[in-house]
Amino acid sequence: SRRLTALDLARRKAEGRKIVALTACHAQMAGLLDAHCDFILVGDSLGMVMHGLDSTLPVTLEMMILQAQAVMRGTARALVVVDMPFGSYEASREQAFASAARILKETGAGAVKLEGGARFAETVAFLTQRGVPVMGHIGLTPQSIHTMGGFRVQGKGPDGARLLLEDARAISEAGACAIVLEGIVEPVARAIAGAPEVTAPTIGIGASPVCDGQILVLEDMLGLSERTPKFVKRFGTLRTQIDAAVRLYAEEVRDGRFPGDAQTYGER
Ligand code: KIV
Ligand code: NA
Repeated sequence: SRRLTALDLARRKAEGRKIVALTACHAQMAGLLDAHCDFILVGDSLGMVMHGLDSTLPVTLEMMILQAQAVMRGTARALVVVDMPFGSYEASREQAFASAARILKETGAGAVKLEGGARFAETVAFLTQRGVPVMGHIGLTPQSIHTMGGFRVQGKGPDGARLLLEDARAISEAGACAIVLEGIVEPVARAIAGAPEVTAPTIGIGASPVCDGQILVLEDMLGLSERTPKFVKRFGTLRTQIDAAVRLYAEEVRDGRFPGDAQTYGER
């Protein structure tokens, strides 16, 4: 069976079927998501999840490409979308195209994602017209942590609501294949998702159930992350399970129960 494409996201929306997405940066984990997700995002949150960074700002194009290659090898069906890291697309449309082209050429992924609204509409159009499907990302945009003054829920106050709707409209009209709405209060998320001029499917993360789809960071929803925002539901308890398994392994090595006969090579 063929891999889903950026165009299938619009099809899901047209059919009134919710779009299911998760992040992944690891081949085996991505393989487990493949049958269940419409798209898998190789998010720059991998800088925090995998590398222990305090923010996504230090993440490089090389880091994104390496993990996107892993996710592509581990999957066959889901669309793979790759985040453009901070500093790889903001300077100009040409810079953005060069970075996106490296991602598509070196990984085989089917779309890129960039953070920002109206001020990146030209970039979204430039890339889309040149064969690069682009997913937008507005609201709480972690690459702008310094100008946002921290991780803050967006869309509070009349100005916030109006600006976010303008952002969504601008990148939808520029041809974005979908728009991630992150950390946005429900009334504003509802206004964006319901606006007729916002034709691009909306993918929520902390943006209420009104969106056309939902995404979470895999490690957060599996219960592997230590601290998570309010919008995360833990669908698993991996942290506890891994702790128990590693504790048992350590005990068995220390008391000589592991390796046992079953794990030991005999003479033939
Ligand atoms: O990097 C990431 O994981 C993301 C999602 C939270 C949408 O951008
Ligand atoms: Na991201």
